[in-house]
Amino acid sequence: MERILVTGSAGFIGSHLVGRLLKEGTAACIVGLDNLNDYYPVSLKESRLRTIDSLAAASPVAYRFVKGDICDEALLESLFAQYHFDTVVHLAAQAGVRYSITHPSACIESNVGGFYAVLGACRRHSTGHFVFASSSSVYGENNAVPFREDAAVDQPVSLYAASKICDESLAYVYSSLYGLPATGLRFFSVYGPAGRPDMAYFKFTEQWLRGESVQLYNEGQCRRDFTYIDDVVEGIVRVLAGGPAAGNAALCVGGAPEAPRLAVEASAPFRLYNIGSGRPVGMLDFVRMLQSALQDAGLLPPEFDAMAHTRLMPMQPGDVSVTYADVSTLRRDFGFTPQTTIQEGLRRFAEWVAGQSVPV
Ligand SMILES: NC(=O)c1ccc[n+]([C@@H]2O[C@H](COP(=O)([O-])OP(=O)(O)OC[C@H]3O[C@@H](n4cnc5c(N)ncnc54)[C@H](O)[C@@H]3O)[C@@H](O)[C@H]2O)c1
Repeated sequence: MERILVTGSAGFIGSHLVGRLLKEGTAACIVGLDNLNDYYPVSLKESRLRTIDSLAAASPVAYRFVKGDICDEALLESLFAQYHFDTVVHLAAQAGVRYSITHPSACIESNVGGFYAVLGACRRHSTGHFVFASSSSVYGENNAVPFREDAAVDQPVSLYAASKICDESLAYVYSSLYGLPATGLRFFSVYGPAGRPDMAYFKFTEQWLRGESVQLYNEGQCRRDFTYIDDVVEGIVRVLAGGPAAGNAALCVGGAPEAPRLAVEASAPFRLYNIGSGRPVGMLDFVRMLQSALQDAGLLPPEFDAMAHTRLMPMQPGDVSVTYADVSTLRRDFGFTPQTTIQEGLRRFAEWVAGQSVPV
């Protein structure tokens, strides 16, 4: 019976993960930690926490939410000393590629400083498995597609991507120096109900419902490997079931396994996995599919023409033109690849929007 800490538990992925773990009911206790910052409306984070509370009421798992900052080392120390976590799922971060360019300190503080603080607590308290969120953005612009976990990741195009590469390196060092079992998950454009309002599908929905036009960058020529939230959570849950053992690390941070540091890597209980659908979608097609989903849910009128409400814009700093996951490593080790089609995922998102009492 495990004791699990989920950081970023009021966030999009964290809240869905905690919900799933509460429903499964196999953990002894789950502690959620989040500072409820206002990067996007706090009301959405509070509403996710209310959903979690009602699931917790029906679950045998002991659940506690702590409002606090991952940079607060004293708080971390007291939580780790009290709960002796077997597993830490570290999802708290300042998300947003563009935001990292306009607010670099916020990104570095949480994603590097906060990450280091959580990692240190895991080491001091001999946590059994440290699972952390990385991102497809580590691949940058110059990688061959589909992105493989052993590709070099040394040319980030945003502070956010650089912070995630840094996290992977720090986790790798703690894994190889101190034997901390660590698994990094490179998520690809996660979407779904109660998602993040800064992401395109959510922003476009809000803007169209308000009668505004949306901006599509790179003249609509980007392709994104959208991954439905339930698939991401399924991937995390499977990874939680088995931490990496020492002596089988086949991947390294920043390059291919044949790099000279292989001897150290071979003894590190460290893994990296892409969690993506492996089916990238062109953004012009995506806009049309989102339109259909919103029309089917009765949110937009049948005559609504998304392209007439979409302005094509040049590429934005920090963006990459394609994300495309090779998911064979996840399939090999956990027998799982995301299954939800983009049409089905958008349908569920649109239904969620339609069910909101306050318009999104
Ligand atoms: N959603 C995606 O498409 C995606 C893609 C790649 C990687 N990721 C990564 O996955 C993780 C979860 O992403 P998400 O989409 O759920 O984002 P999110 O912003 O919804 O969730 C992150 C949560 O962390 C909290 N947080 C931020 N800084 C904190 C701090 N210093 N102390 C305590 N809490 C803090 C926020 O309040 C938020 O609730 C992040 O690490 C993100 O970088 C997400």
